[in-house]
Amino acid sequence: MKPILQVLRKEKTLVPPIWIMRQAGRYLPEYRKIRAQAGGFLDLVYQPELAAEVTMQPVRRYAMDGAILFSDILIVPHALGQKLRFEEGRGPVLERVKNEKDICSLKDDPESEKFYMVGKTVEKISARLKSEKFSHTALIGFAGAPWTVACYMVEGSGSKEFHRAKKWAAQSPDSFGRLIDIISRATISYLKIQIKSGAEIIQIFDSWAGLADENMFQHFVIGPTKRIISALKAEFPAVPVIGFPRGAGIQYDVYARNTGIDGLGLDSAVPLHQARALQKICPVQGNLDPVYLLGEGDMVCERAAGIVQGLSNGGHIFNLGHGISKETDPDVVQRLVSCIRGQRPEAAGERL
Ligand code: CP3
Repeated sequence: MKPILQVLRKEKTLVPPIWIMRQAGRYLPEYRKIRAQAGGFLDLVYQPELAAEVTMQPVRRYAMDGAILFSDILIVPHALGQKLRFEEGRGPVLERVKNEKDICSLKDDPESEKFYMVGKTVEKISARLKSEKFSHTALIGFAGAPWTVACYMVEGSGSKEFHRAKKWAAQSPDSFGRLIDIISRATISYLKIQIKSGAEIIQIFDSWAGLADENMFQHFVIGPTKRIISALKAEFPAVPVIGFPRGAGIQYDVYARNTGIDGLGLDSAVPLHQARALQKICPVQGNLDPVYLLGEGDMVCERAAGIVQGLSNGGHIFNLGHGISKETDPDVVQRLVSCIRGQRPEAAGERL
């Protein structure tokens, strides 16, 4: 069985499987080439042939244990009818959802053509993993969690604080809840299409979970995530879901216990002792700080080995604590992958 699936089913592996968040991206020269060929970022996402190709690039280079679909969390708002563009050097820019009227004008039934194209990409990746004999590599589909997606929809772009979204959530929780419901329903259809097309694991990115206070965390992070997971499990009980509530801190525990996830993504700020406690609830994924991959990468193996050994008594999928940065030298990633795979059984402690 594929090692990531083994870990998520609570089986032991000799060394932790590895994949890297944002593993297909601008740090790879072969990605930059296809990206330039496609034109814009969205042109790349909506061309299944090219999107499947860039998904495969890090898999071919490093034989990763996971192949993450090349797409974006903002495809859901795009399918809901929100205008979206990606600006060089600025990131995503969306037409803002400002009030109840804007919520009402979102499409009730998201544009299926956009989801369909992403489904095509998943089918192509699945076929390529087979034809190129990456039999150990699991295909990971994904979506943003409703809280994080709503943050972008209301703010209209990236932000440090997402004040507009938080203010709305705090002052008019009912109408903010309606936006969350629309996103949740669209996300369920989107993820079901991915699974039907061949995704073997789903990851839910809640990149801005750390901005929610206790009340918002309960209603807008845990609630909709739980709803999405139960809808998926009702139809696809065997497909595991990894939740990544970045920055959740002490609330990682309540998230892991209450959402129905099979695996928990940890950001780099989570200390080893907390990660070990969380492993008692479910397998964890993470959490090397991506900064160790910058520069010559001399520290990479030491830091990575510390994490692998520290988490060797429970389920662990090796990953970074956040996306790889575009300044990373691809050879340093190779060093990291070799170090993880070279972790001798005796170093991996009790897991044998
Ligand atoms: O290898 C992979 O992980 C593939 C696919 C992937 C992308 N985005 C491609 C992408 C995934 C899983 C994402 C998730 C995503 N997108 C998140 C959650 C994870 C996180 O980083 O917190 C978020 C918040 C987004 C929204 C988004 N997309 C932003 C803020 C940006 C701009 C910042 C940046 O890195 O440029 C994007 C653009 C984006 N999404 C790029 C890629 C490869 C870069 C675009 C380019 O090639 O010009």
